[in-house]
Parts: sequence; structure tokens; C-alpha cells
Amino acid sequence: MERTLSIIKPDGVERNLIGQIVSKFEENGLNIAAMKKVRLSKHQAEAFYAVHKERPFFGELVDFMTRSPVVVMCLKGEGAVAKNREIMGATNPEEAADGTIRKLFAKSIGENTVHGSDALETAKEEVAFFFAESEIY
Ligand code: CMP
Repeated sequence: MERTLSIIKPDGVERNLIGQIVSKFEENGLNIAAMKKVRLSKHQAEAFYAVHKERPFFGELVDFMTRSPVVVMCLKGEGAVAKNREIMGATNPEEAADGTIRKLFAKSIGENTVHGSDALETAKEEVAFFFAESEIY
């Protein structure tokens, strides 16, 4: 059974989309093994996205991710990493497939409503970034 990290970003939480997004995961066979709402500090957002720190959009990304609370979840299921990415759709909503979260809800490549771990190894690090083992069911 794989685990992956999902974040409903500020644009999704601000527009009351938590329920609709969580439903997409559950309808597609993923289980919510852990979930909480958090307001990321600048330090946390910079650390979480450290891999992007040289990118031109890094400052904008950190400002966006800290402007209001996010919902972080540990999703669990068969092939959870790939399944979550399929349900989210492409990073750029203009390229996302019909029915995906980003196609349905995302406004732009920056404000793209959800984050999902990109590989199994990253998923382990990202889940551990937000959750203690004792919080995951
Ligand atoms: P995410 O999957 O959370 O991982 C990195 C994030 O950087 C990405 O989603 C987007 O929100 C953001 N991002 C990627 N490319 C761009 C871009 N060209 N301009 C602004 N933000 C971007």
C-alpha cells in the first residue's frame, strides 16, 4: 500500500473546495489516512519547496502558499502516488485532462489548487514533513 502527500492550496481552501476535492480522492479509491489544516510559515514553505529555490517563480510560490491556510493529507492506496497525480491533472490547468481537479478548479499554473508528491521517495519525505507516524491511520 503506497502513501503520498496531497495539499489543497490556498486558492482551493479559500473557495470552499475542500469537500469536492476530498470526494475526488475517495471516489477514485484513495483513503484519507491523515488530514489537517495548517497555515504555513514562510520558513516552512521555503523548506517544503526547497527544490525550486533557484526558479524565478520561487518567491511568488512561497507568498501564495503562505497567504492563507492549506489542507494537508496523507493519501493511501494501491499506486497512490501515480493515482493522485492522475486525479490532479497536469501542473498547468490549460494542459490538464477533463475531469481532473486542476482542469475543474485551477486558475493558473501558480494557483493550481493542489499539490501532489511526484515520486515514491519524495512522497515519504513530504508525508514526514507534515505528519508524525502516530497521526497516520
Ligand atoms: P506543485 O506541484 O505544488 O510544485 C511546484 C509548484 O510551483 C507548482 O505546483 C506550481 O504551483 C508552481 N509553479 C510551477 N511552475 C510555475 C510557473 N511557471 N509559474 C508560477 N508557479 C509555478
